[in-house]
Amino acid sequence: MHILLGQTLTFTADPFHVPPEEAVRHETRGAVAIDGGRIVAVGPAEAVRAAHPGAPVTDHGTALLSPGFIDAHVHFAQTAIIASWGKRLIDWLNSYTFPEEARFGDPAHAREIARRYFDLTLAAGTTTAVSFGTVHPESVEAFFAEAEARGLRALAGKTCMDMNAPENLRDTAQTAYDRSKALLERWHGRGRLGYVITPRFAPTSTRQQLEALGALWAEHPEVPMQTHLSEQTEEIEWVRALFPEARDYLDVYDRAGLVGPGALMGHAIHLTGRERARLREAGASLIHCPTSNTFIGSGLFDTAGLAAEGQILGLATDTGGGSSFSMLRTMAAAYEVGQLRGGGALHPAQLWWLATAGSARALRLEKTIGTLAPGYEADIIAVDLASTPAIAQRAARAESLWEAIFPTIMMGDERAIAATYVAGNRIRASD
Ligand code: GUN
Ligand code: ZN
Repeated sequence: MHILLGQTLTFTADPFHVPPEEAVRHETRGAVAIDGGRIVAVGPAEAVRAAHPGAPVTDHGTALLSPGFIDAHVHFAQTAIIASWGKRLIDWLNSYTFPEEARFGDPAHAREIARRYFDLTLAAGTTTAVSFGTVHPESVEAFFAEAEARGLRALAGKTCMDMNAPENLRDTAQTAYDRSKALLERWHGRGRLGYVITPRFAPTSTRQQLEALGALWAEHPEVPMQTHLSEQTEEIEWVRALFPEARDYLDVYDRAGLVGPGALMGHAIHLTGRERARLREAGASLIHCPTSNTFIGSGLFDTAGLAAEGQILGLATDTGGGSSFSMLRTMAAAYEVGQLRGGGALHPAQLWWLATAGSARALRLEKTIGTLAPGYEADIIAVDLASTPAIAQRAARAESLWEAIFPTIMMGDERAIAATYVAGNRIRASD
């Protein structure tokens, strides 16, 4: 038993569907009690302490105690090529991404980058990531082994490609199925790890490979499936040429049995009305990757419109296409993209929800992580709302909770993460 003190903040409802003030539970002087890696109580500090006399206390002062951030779409293997200049999607893949991913057949390289990835993201307050591996099973082995050693809840899958990719990054329909299945059986449900079936995207998978992975998903509907959907206009034209039999991009996946609950569709920017209706009907999740979408020049995700029509949304860095490992920087980008796209300014509560409980729901883990409540896993961050002079002077003027938080959303980064707890264990102390 262990008690954390601070300002507690968590969601009791979706702030896209109820007014933000009604969606939130906040205690100015709050506490979270943790036992055996799980939260056992959340509430006013005095009440929680009185209920657990003698429990050791860590006081985070005025810092915000929040669920750790959940990054719903990343490529850990692209860590070393983040911020690579000058290309749009297809050229970026060919110039930077594929050469780096080709190195992950070497287990030592895979291990080194997995270690680096978790060092960077834990410092930024991310306690769960959902990652693409490379085509090599070794990449997924390294990611899961590192996550397991750190006690993290983490998800990943072997990326599958059998066309339009360099020879050394290709598998086949059969080996994609066999190797994905072997990894799934070895890792899914082991500790806090979860497997994700992972066809990279339609341009790099034959119909046979997509169908093989659709068959694997039908055998294991409990695992998520992740891919990319309608990220750039050139990509969409290419998919139209490659799959003339399909009605649209989404239909390529649908014909292979890859659209349904637990489908994590990265980007999903340039959707037709039919695709939006089908995604909603199917209960698929749409993952917003705003720093990537601006960096690679992809377009403006319609957060407000998609939320209003009842789509399931998550938020993600998409590193290394995204330009930051920080979910705070990602929330800022989501806000700015929302301003450019129109449809009303995104409320800070909506941004924070997307980075925590919203992404948890997109992963179908909304009863496990992303919320501070009894029974949830104790993945918690302490966020300093005055982490730089610029942020501090603006927050000092705040007249409400969200006005105090918004400067950290817009200007914060890993310097704002005062502490990160993974299953109740503190892994970084910078305060
Ligand atoms: N589409 C297919 N592969 C990728 C990738 O690695 N990153 C991004 N941003 N888009 C993709
Ligand atoms: Zn991606």
